[in-house]
Amino acid sequence: MATTIVLITGANSGIGFATSKVLACASSTFHIIIASRSLEKAEAAKSTIEAASPKGSLSTVVFDVTDEESIEATAALVQQQFGRLDVLVNNAGSGSMDMDLKARFQLCLNTNVIGPALVAAAFRPLLLKSQNPYSIFVSSGERTLTRNAHEKPASHAGIKNGDAYQVSKAALNMLAILEARDYGPQGLKVFAMSPGFVRSNLRGTSEEARSGWGRAGDPEVSGELVLSIVEGKRDGDVGLFVHRDGVYSW
Ligand SMILES: NC(=O)c1ccc[n+]([C@@H]2O[C@H](COP(=O)([O-])OP(=O)(O)OC[C@H]3O[C@@H](n4cnc5c(N)ncnc54)[C@H](OP(=O)(O)O)[C@@H]3O)[C@@H](O)[C@H]2O)c1
Repeated sequence: MATTIVLITGANSGIGFATSKVLACASSTFHIIIASRSLEKAEAAKSTIEAASPKGSLSTVVFDVTDEESIEATAALVQQQFGRLDVLVNNAGSGSMDMDLKARFQLCLNTNVIGPALVAAAFRPLLLKSQNPYSIFVSSGERTLTRNAHEKPASHAGIKNGDAYQVSKAALNMLAILEARDYGPQGLKVFAMSPGFVRSNLRGTSEEARSGWGRAGDPEVSGELVLSIVEGKRDGDVGLFVHRDGVYSW
């Protein structure tokens, strides 16, 4: 069976790491490219997954999702090594709740919107060379326009300065909509995906923040959702905003 080449941004931590592990452990047909902005963190993630004796293989690349030049250099490298990309998971993100309004908007929009737009554009030509390409944007189910239009979701209680993150995920959803509209007809299967509320460094690195004050689930559950998408089990929901149990309205 042909290898499925998967590139996951922000794969050294949280959902990106868990997804890399779930896919690598699922099948020998996966080759996972762990993308991180730090070589040290990328190599540590690769070694940790390799210690679990995965069936698939792994490699690492280093780029910051806001650095256009290094994204394009990596796309050229992937072209040279593999000639195509089968799955792109635009996962890297920032949950900045900086007290300074301009600082948090700049960080969230740069990382969660401009970054994925640059990454999607750079890797799109490689995806379009695949027989069965998937482009997945990791969004947030609590940040939809519909769910926030009339009331504050319960999970927002007590969260201060979450405005920039919410705006950035609504904008990311529009990126996914445009990607699906413009490249879906060429065979690109685009999904916006809600990973659920899971353990990671998004809310901070203290145990309290990582565990979402004791409420966060296992990020491998988010990885299982990505696996189901790339295995084609959610193809009926292509172009939509999926979560584990169904589809959200935008
Ligand atoms: N955890 C949840 O409950 C939850 C819920 C809904 C949506 N999400 C989404 O899930 C995605 C993954 O987040 P996570 O929860 O797994 O948090 P995380 O543990 O903080 O992981 C975020 C990853 O993104 C990387 N990153 C941040 N800025 C970057 C940049 N400029 N260039 C390259 N990489 C960068 C981080 O790298 P460093 O390690 O170097 O910082 C890290 O690898 C995000 O898009 C987030 O919005 C998470």
